[in-house]
Amino acid sequence: MTRRRQIYEGKAKILYEGPEPGTIIQYFKDDATAFNAEKKGTINGKGVINNRISEHVFSRLSHIGIPTHFIRRLNMREQLVRQCEIVPIEVVVRNVAAGSITKRLGIEEGEQLPHTLIEYYYKDDALGDPLIAEEHIACFGWASNEEMQDISSMAIRINDFMCGMFAAIDVRLVDFKLEFGRIYDGDFSRVILADEISPDGCRLWDMNTGEKLDKDRFRRDLGGEEEAYREVARRLGLLQGEDNGPGEVLDLSSHRNKLRGSANPPKK
Ligand code: TMP
Ligand code: ASP
Repeated sequence: MTRRRQIYEGKAKILYEGPEPGTIIQYFKDDATAFNAEKKGTINGKGVINNRISEHVFSRLSHIGIPTHFIRRLNMREQLVRQCEIVPIEVVVRNVAAGSITKRLGIEEGEQLPHTLIEYYYKDDALGDPLIAEEHIACFGWASNEEMQDISSMAIRINDFMCGMFAAIDVRLVDFKLEFGRIYDGDFSRVILADEISPDGCRLWDMNTGEKLDKDRFRRDLGGEEEAYREVARRLGLLQGEDNGPGEVLDLSSHRNKLRGSANPPKK
């Protein structure tokens, strides 16, 4: 037996060398961090749930023609993905004001934005992932203008698709973060969707009650984060597997009150 080689350990995932060249294994941890890792904790079972949710979302996105790094899920906590060079930009898509934009611009949380906003942050922990202007990206060589055109059009398509996917399960997609990677083919390269899409990097509010079903429960000490992540997976139809009997699914209803915690009741 040989020990597989660890390539990188991030805040919520570990990357290992994959079985074939050009592949990587993404291992999803239960570790949770917030505020640039100033706050640390664990959310029991988060890795398992995020692996399933991300598999589901990436598979659905590839069906509508979005190129992604996802190949297949390997087991409860791991998925096989294409190796790519991560573009050092965090792409945040916002439909409703929440989080940093409310503080930066003094906008009330929950306000529907007049139109969808795309923001770019430079991925650098030492700098605290600063918000950047789009012009900085080509200027500092982080991505080319052509790549940014592909990235922004993919981000809009992903948002349209995900808004519908979540609306169908009574969840409002408030905002989310995407990461993209570059893959090389001879002299050419193209960008594909990478990283993960899960309640760690999305704001998801129950359409009817305003309950937060995402990492804000951890960031803001609201409690009930395990139940919230499971609720998203359950509504997406992902909990019928061997580890989730009907009893467990029914149990979630008893966490309803615990899941409440939004200071902002939904605007109808
Ligand atoms: P923000 O309101 O804190 O800027 O976050 C916007 C969205 O991006 C939110 O859905 C959470 C996600 N996000 C991450 O995935 N990673 C991060 O490091 C940050 C700051 C936000
Ligand atoms: N994951 C980020 C961190 O710990 C921040 C966040 O998601 O709020 O730095």
